[in-house]
Amino acid sequence: MKLSTKHLLGIRQLLKEDIETILSTATQFKEVLQRPVKKVPSLRDITIVNLFYENSTRTRISFELAEKRLSADTVNFTVSGSSAAKGETLLDTVNNILSMKVDMVVMRHSASGAPHFLAKHIPAAIINAGDGINEHPTQALLDAFSMIEKFGSLQGLKVAIIGDIMHSRVALSNIYLLNKMGAKVMVAGPPTLIPKYIAEAMNVTVEYDVKKALQWCDVANVLRIQLERQNQPLFSSLREYSLAYGINKRLLESLGKDITIMHPGPINRGVELDSDVADGNSSIILHQVENGLAVRMAVLYLLSNRD
Ligand code: CP
Repeated sequence: MKLSTKHLLGIRQLLKEDIETILSTATQFKEVLQRPVKKVPSLRDITIVNLFYENSTRTRISFELAEKRLSADTVNFTVSGSSAAKGETLLDTVNNILSMKVDMVVMRHSASGAPHFLAKHIPAAIINAGDGINEHPTQALLDAFSMIEKFGSLQGLKVAIIGDIMHSRVALSNIYLLNKMGAKVMVAGPPTLIPKYIAEAMNVTVEYDVKKALQWCDVANVLRIQLERQNQPLFSSLREYSLAYGINKRLLESLGKDITIMHPGPINRGVELDSDVADGNSSIILHQVENGLAVRMAVLYLLSNRD
């Protein structure tokens, strides 16, 4: 099985068939991960560098573990402690690393488009692990995997993405993926955190009342307020955000139906999501993290062209 692309830069560039191939390959790797011996030799002699110019817990650990489970050789780069702090450019950094014969680069960067820039200049396969406010493709793929695991299909599934849509690469990648796979997508949150023309541009419905969004959806994918990407105040305070848009047990119980709660992490508990919801029966948040490993194994395997 092959993908139509050499890199994974975003969901926007993928065909529906690519998404299906990644998800079905991930199903096979999830089965491998249930075995007593969780390691396979698929990427033996492949060298992968994980270039993280921005903080990460889940994505970095998940990629590194996926690479180890596939028997790849891995090198980890974080900007603190590197010569990037002395002014070395991204391209110089990567060319130096590539001269040590690296086959694939997994990259997270605060600049939107950084992995696209690299893909134009270097021969290795590039996997975007989150670029600025643009895309986070493996997050959308693991979200899709988790929803399919629960509901069987994305076709016709009603998914509300709730919170800071404006600054969220998770939202954008999820919208691209859900649209390609036939789901119905709503975005909800304060008007200042939802891009003005998103309904027309992205084929989604917009709702400013969170309770109405929750009443409509099968799945609520709740996002963090990304204060680090906001250079001016877009709402009065976190407390008021929580009162108007936060999801708590009382609100869920008032719906009169069960919905599934997702969150890409990190959660700001007590702001967008209360602990009794994040840790409650409706939540599949830790399943998302678990599935991220199988999905990233699938992406690495398919882009390595080993078959
Ligand atoms: N979901 C996600 O990207 O989390 P990290 O920032 O911890 O990698």
